[in-house]
Amino acid sequence: MTTVGIVGLGVMGLGIAQVLAGAGFDVLATDARAEAREGAVERLRIQVARTGGDAEAVAARLSLVDGPEAMGAADLVIEAIAEDLPAKRALFATLEEAVAPGAVLATNTSSLAVGRIAAGLRHPGRVVGLHFFNPAPVQRLVELICHAGTSDDAAATARKLAEMAGQEVIEAPDRPGFIVNRCARPFYGEALALLEEGRGPAEIDAAMLAAGYRIGPLSLIDLIGADVNLAATRSVAEAMDGHPRYHVFATLERQVAAGALGRKAGRGFLFPERPGAPPPDSDTIAARIEAALVNEAGWLLSEGGVTAEAIDRATRLALNWPRGPFDILAARGGAAIRATLAALESRAPAHLRGRYAPAPVLEAT
Ligand SMILES: NC(=O)c1ccc[n+]([C@@H]2O[C@H](COP(=O)([O-])OP(=O)(O)OC[C@H]3O[C@@H](n4cnc5c(N)ncnc54)[C@H](O)[C@@H]3O)[C@@H](O)[C@H]2O)c1
Repeated sequence: MTTVGIVGLGVMGLGIAQVLAGAGFDVLATDARAEAREGAVERLRIQVARTGGDAEAVAARLSLVDGPEAMGAADLVIEAIAEDLPAKRALFATLEEAVAPGAVLATNTSSLAVGRIAAGLRHPGRVVGLHFFNPAPVQRLVELICHAGTSDDAAATARKLAEMAGQEVIEAPDRPGFIVNRCARPFYGEALALLEEGRGPAEIDAAMLAAGYRIGPLSLIDLIGADVNLAATRSVAEAMDGHPRYHVFATLERQVAAGALGRKAGRGFLFPERPGAPPPDSDTIAARIEAALVNEAGWLLSEGGVTAEAIDRATRLALNWPRGPFDILAARGGAAIRATLAALESRAPAHLRGRYAPAPVLEAT
């Protein structure tokens, strides 16, 4: 395997191109927009130079082609186009006509089911998810998602490619949000619930910093952008049929409507302020948010196709959490987590009723 195709040269596609070309692969790339194609080599050169790499050598491995029809030489193609199911399906239909019989087609989708992207193709078995995180050259994790019909060969090829490119590969089930984007939801959601109960953003974030987190949930929304966070929240909420564990908090919607998107807008939940001293009940806040993290991971585990170790490793790597949800469960104990959830459920407002129902794994601990 030497040649990799990339379709879509936006934030993710170019980042993935940097990872692969940097690891010595020849990269064939394209984008629907001519200016994205024309500027790609220069953008890659600048990106690599910024990180102190050999910009000329890496950029020399990137070749632009006019469209997906010209990807016949690729052993594996990664799609990083717009998050739109019909567009991705149309692209894969074109790609499967263009590539060799043994070639693998990978999607970088964050929120669409890989099985739905593969459905309708002549050879759906060659489709996998290879979910890189932003910024791809910095984030070491790649989630490998196999849908029900993915062939063992395709999965093995995709894993090998990502590992040869220096990434850590963790297999994730083809469920909404996979592992990381799913398990991250309550980190934000529980902080928003606390805000709606009248707690201040600085004290919520300070409590999480005191508990060992690198960044508090509201500062993290400010960093990512409240609009990006809202889109991810809505997408998981819809895919999970509006279950109250994925409630879309009005506070987040209002924040977006007001344009207080975070750093990029100059103001957010907390930005430009910083978290202050932790409040006296700091551990109660952290215990509540962590109980929700454990519970979400527990529900994901109960759906199958993933291990507790994979969930812990993926969340620590991609989210920079000091410990994974099952490490938290071991440290705090099932009884304490259940008691926290029961107390939250007993006083949950109508729109959150059922949010704190304990996952089966908690019943067993
Ligand atoms: N941005 C993130 O943090 C992130 C993280 C992980 C995964 N993803 C996923 O990666 C994919 C790309 O996201 P992004 O943030 O890089 O988007 P982006 O908007 O920065 O880039 C998308 C690029 O694809 C091109 N494009 C759109 N439709 C196309 C088509 N039919 N054929 C060829 N090119 C086309 C656009 O011109 C654009 O250059 C999405 O599926 C997204 O969900 C994004």
